[in-house]
Parts: sequence; structure tokens; C-alpha cells
Amino acid sequence: MRILSKRGDEMMILALPGEEFTKGEYMKIVDERADTQMVVQLYDSAYLDSPGIQEDLLRDELFSGSELNRLDPLEMESLGVMIKDARVLLCKIRCVIRAGKRIPESGWLPSRSSSTVSKMGVSELYEIIGSRGTRRILLGESVNGEGNSINAEDLDGRLNIITGRKEAGKSHMAKLLVSGLLDHGAKVLIFDLNGEYGGLALSREGGVSRYAKRVKVLQPGYNLRFSLRYLGKRILVDVLQNVLEVPGATMREFMRIWDYLEQSGRVTLKDLEETINHWHCNEFVRDALLSRYYSLISSDLISDNSRYVTTIEEEFASMKDGGALIVTLSGVGPLARRMIVESVLAKLIDCLEQRTLEPVFLLAEEAHLYLRHTYWEDLITRMRHFGVFSTFVTNQPDAIGPDIYRQADNIFLYNFTNEKDIEQVAQASMTDFETVKSIVRTLEPKHCLVLGKVVGDLPVVVKSVDTDFQSLGSTRLFFTSHIESTPPVETR
Ligand SMILES: Nc1ncnc2c1ncn2[C@@H]1O[C@H](COP(=O)(O)OP(=O)(O)O)[C@@H](O)[C@H]1O
Ligand SMILES: [Mg+2]
Repeated sequence: MRILSKRGDEMMILALPGEEFTKGEYMKIVDERADTQMVVQLYDSAYLDSPGIQEDLLRDELFSGSELNRLDPLEMESLGVMIKDARVLLCKIRCVIRAGKRIPESGWLPSRSSSTVSKMGVSELYEIIGSRGTRRILLGESVNGEGNSINAEDLDGRLNIITGRKEAGKSHMAKLLVSGLLDHGAKVLIFDLNGEYGGLALSREGGVSRYAKRVKVLQPGYNLRFSLRYLGKRILVDVLQNVLEVPGATMREFMRIWDYLEQSGRVTLKDLEETINHWHCNEFVRDALLSRYYSLISSDLISDNSRYVTTIEEEFASMKDGGALIVTLSGVGPLARRMIVESVLAKLIDCLEQRTLEPVFLLAEEAHLYLRHTYWEDLITRMRHFGVFSTFVTNQPDAIGPDIYRQADNIFLYNFTNEKDIEQVAQASMTDFETVKSIVRTLEPKHCLVLGKVVGDLPVVVKSVDTDFQSLGSTRLFFTSHIESTPPVETR
């Protein structure tokens, strides 16, 4: 391999036929004389195009099949084939290393005549970057088959995004991250839209996994209920205002009712209903309050019975060595879903503010379905400050605003086939447009392009490992459930 040319932040490298490459692979260009090397990453390949080669190809086509073409007294043909099949590897310059240290790129160019170009494994790459932490999380293997781990420290205090088309392996990656965090004793809260994260507690054979004791599935209306007093006035006002869209005048009346209940020490659902019914106010206001009251009841999130209620602090306290609380949102209506998420998040922030809880990693799948817009900004700024470190998983890249991509520290990109989606993520992600566009288009399932802090800002393609717990997606299929019960019908 040789350097052919440089254009902007790209190096063109000449490769002969027979040398195999995979997109995303790293190469080093070593210039012995300068004791410096350049690290580049292959993002695409092309033919070597020159008028001479094109003319030759045309000649081959014209004379194909004729005797003239077979005469090759000087045995030039094999050489000609090599030249015609030569490829140009399009590579992005990633960094320059001098005396074993990463230095700013500063326009240094390796010698074109004497530099050597060779492949570079990720372990060598990571040695150069130098790793900040010691808590490893195995994600999978890189394109050359080496194991690829990240440091849990690089997820700490960070905002992560996992995106890609359906069935690409996003939730699988999310589960790998969660299990890795659990291995290091972290606390995780998961909003589980499809009811699939409970699999963390089960081994592949159907027994219990090593995470079983550290995973708790919270089902709203079953084992996730709060008392009215625990949620408190602020959160209730929040939910009424933002989820149930209570108008201003009604809201004021509600606050008066709440204060009255609090003074008389009767903050319960039963007393709330009774007080609304007997409260001196406009009929419209009463109706509005009652209808919201019934919405609250139907979400089954609040209970007066102290045996059935829990608190976020209590749930986390039972997980001394870290653990995951999985809030199941499958089978819950959209309105109730938003009420649950809003209350749980608000309570979480309360706990963190009062330091009754250690920082928590939050994992939210398709969060745009239940997280109101203002909460997004809150999550990545204020809540992050208090200690909620979010990971968003979505198959609709445009559901996450460009401002959120810009603030993301790590992005795990899976395959997209839709051109518009590719453009969108390429524009928003933290590396160059061409790399993302070219690599993401051709990523196979289970493979992702990892960008950001976890890979020292050097994009890496990773094939995720299989898990020893159940990571099955939750799509219920029609035909698989009918295979055994109905015999095939013979057709003529
Ligand atoms: N690295 C992997 N090894 C084994 N199975 C995997 C791997 N990645 C994904 N899968 C499986 O592929 C299917 C789709 O993955 P999933 O993560 O549910 O996709 P997505 O969330 O992107 O729709 C799941 O059944 C999952 O278990
Ligand atoms: Mg999924």
C-alpha cells in the first residue's frame, strides 16, 4: 500500500488487488524518518481512474474474443490486470502520533515515497489513546476480530444516543450497556416501552441470570403505585398542567383544595374526591377537576392503601450494590404513560436534589412517545447536573432534535436504509459526514458505528456480543404462533 494523494482531511491510499479491507478499519502510515505516524480510517473505496486505464479497458472490450487479444509475448497481461484492478482507499485522517503521543494534526504530511502503510488493530489504537478508566464493559468485537470494550467511566455523567432502523440491534446494545453498568454497581432506571428488559433477569435457558437479584420490574398499577402525599403538590400540579392540560382557573382551585386537604391532614384520593364534590366553586371548574381526578384514578398510579404503595428511594435502597428498576410501559395507555414518566422523573429529581439518592443512569426507548418537549432539554441540562445520565434509544432519528445530538457525548449508530435518515444522523453526529454516510449505509445487523468519548473520539465499527441473559426483542409474530397449531394446507 502506498499514499496516493491527500485532499482536505482525506488520504487516498493505493491498494493492489488481493488486499482485503472492511469499511471502518484503521490504518497507520509510518514515516520512520520523522518518527511520526498518521492514523487514518477507511470509509470507502474506489477504482484508480486515469485516462490510460480507461483506454485500456475500452481496448479490452473491443478486442474481447478476438485472437489478437490472446497474444501476449511479453506477458504483460497479469501486470495490466493488476493495474486495472488497483483500488484507491478513501481514508479520513484521525490523528497524528509523534514519539508515542497523540498530537494536534497541524498539517503534517508523511513522506509519499518512503512511508509504509499497514493495518492497525483497535487494541493498538486504544493503547495510543490511553484509557481513562478501569471499569471495562465488553461491547463486542471490531472489524478485525479483536475484542472491543469501553470504560464505564466514559458513560458516567454523559448523554448517549442509540439509533438505527428496526431490528438492527439497538435494544440489544442498550441491554449490553445496562448489564455492564450493573457489573460495576451502577443504578439504572429504564422506561421499557415494549416490556423486553425483564429478560435481563433470565438466562438464555430460561433459568435465572446473574442479574436476577439486581433487576426489578415495576408494573404501573401492580407494584408501582405512589401515595398522593408522597408525590406532593408540586408533582401533582405538574402532571395536571402538563399531561392533563388543566386550564389556569381550574388549577388555582385545585391548589386551594390541596392546601385545604394538607391543613386538615387528609391528603388521600378519597378525601380529594369528596372535597372536589363539596367544594364551593363554579360547576365547570368542578367538572373539569372531577374529570382529571378520574383520569388520575384510571392511570392506577396512586393508591391510598399503604400496603400497595412504594417510593423510588425504597426501591433503590433495596439495591445496595447497584441495580436496575424497569418501569414497564407496555400495555399502558398513552396518557397514563406520560403521567407515570412525568411523576417518576420528577420524583427522581427530588431525591437527587435532596441527596437521598446517588446518581442514576436513565434508559429511555422511543422517549418522544411519552416525554414532553421541555423535559428533553431539562434532562440533558438540569437533570444531568443533578445526576441523571440519559441514554435515548430510537429508530426515528428525527424524533431527537439536532440540539440534543449536538450535546450527545456518545452515539451508537446502527444501519439505516432510508436516505433521509442517513443524511439526518450524518449531519447531526460528531464526526465527518462522509464516514457516517458511507459506513452506516452498509452496516449489517448487530454492527454499529460507535462515536464519541467511549472510543476516544475515534469512530469504531463494533459487532455486538451475544448475551448470556435473554435479550430477545418483543415483537409478537402471527405466523410463529400458528406454526404448530395449524397443519400446512396442500395446494395444487
Ligand atoms: N449481538 C447480537 N447477538 C445475538 N442476537 C442479537 C444481537 N444483536 C441483536 N440481536 C437480536 O436481534 C434481534 C433484534 O435486535 P433488537 O436489539 O431487538 O433490535 P432493535 O431494538 O434495533 O429493533 C433481537 O432478537 C436480538 O436478540
Ligand atoms: Mg428495540
